[in-house]
Amino acid sequence: MVAEIARDPETYGLPISGIGGVTTWRDAAEFLVLGAGNVQVCTAAMTYGFKIVQEMITGLSDWMDAKGHRNLNDITGRAVPNISDWQYLNLNYVAKAHIDQDACIKCGRCHIACEDTSHQAITQFVDGIRHFEVMEDECVGCNLCVNVCPVQDCITMVPLAAGTLDERTGKPVDANYANWTTHPNNPMARQAAE
Ligand SMILES: Cc1cc2nc3c(=O)[nH]c(=O)nc-3n(C[C@H](O)[C@H](O)[C@H](O)COP(=O)(O)O)c2cc1C
Ligand code: SF4
Ligand code: SF4
Repeated sequence: MVAEIARDPETYGLPISGIGGVTTWRDAAEFLVLGAGNVQVCTAAMTYGFKIVQEMITGLSDWMDAKGHRNLNDITGRAVPNISDWQYLNLNYVAKAHIDQDACIKCGRCHIACEDTSHQAITQFVDGIRHFEVMEDECVGCNLCVNVCPVQDCITMVPLAAGTLDERTGKPVDANYANWTTHPNNPMARQAAE
């Protein structure tokens, strides 16, 4: 919603204060790069106390120093140009989740999330042993498991190169950009073509 306000011609340029779910400096950074000039925190401060704000300031400051950002103006709205509407996403972009077995702590969150709300593409047991691995013939690349994994960079999305066989569809990855506005399953696109 913050990014929508930041990029909509009617609201573009309005000062935005981001709020809702900010708990860590990373959350704050995401709000800022998507257009917020500052953030507000309620639940996290109630749960963990005001010291959490100091942790956010320290984390954000270290990250900004590492990236060479001098002040909030350097980062506010910086990622807004990367935002697109879903119908323009490249349907021929295929990526599969990959689990770094050395980093995995076997908490099982990825399995539960994928099993219950996505595509049942992550194992829980292999040969009777607790083991979390992505089944490429089931993975649709929704990214959900990456978001729930508590270990940074343990699950990564690996794009398939053009021409590679997508085990899920049984078809090679098409190198051409194609979006929903031209997709044959889209009745409006079919009508326009006819
Ligand atoms: C226990 C509680 C009490 C709240 N009281 C108010 C309030 O009196 N006025 C208000 O505008 N928002 C109130 N809020 C909403 C918060 O200001 C904030 O918008 C919301 O919790 C989302 O931010 P957060 O994810 O950082 O908690 C309250 C939220 C909580 C959890
Ligand atoms: S990207 Fe989606 S479908 Fe693939 S393993 Fe992760 S949660 Fe399952
Ligand atoms: S959520 Fe991450 S750490 Fe937990 S089992 Fe899955 S890959 Fe391993």
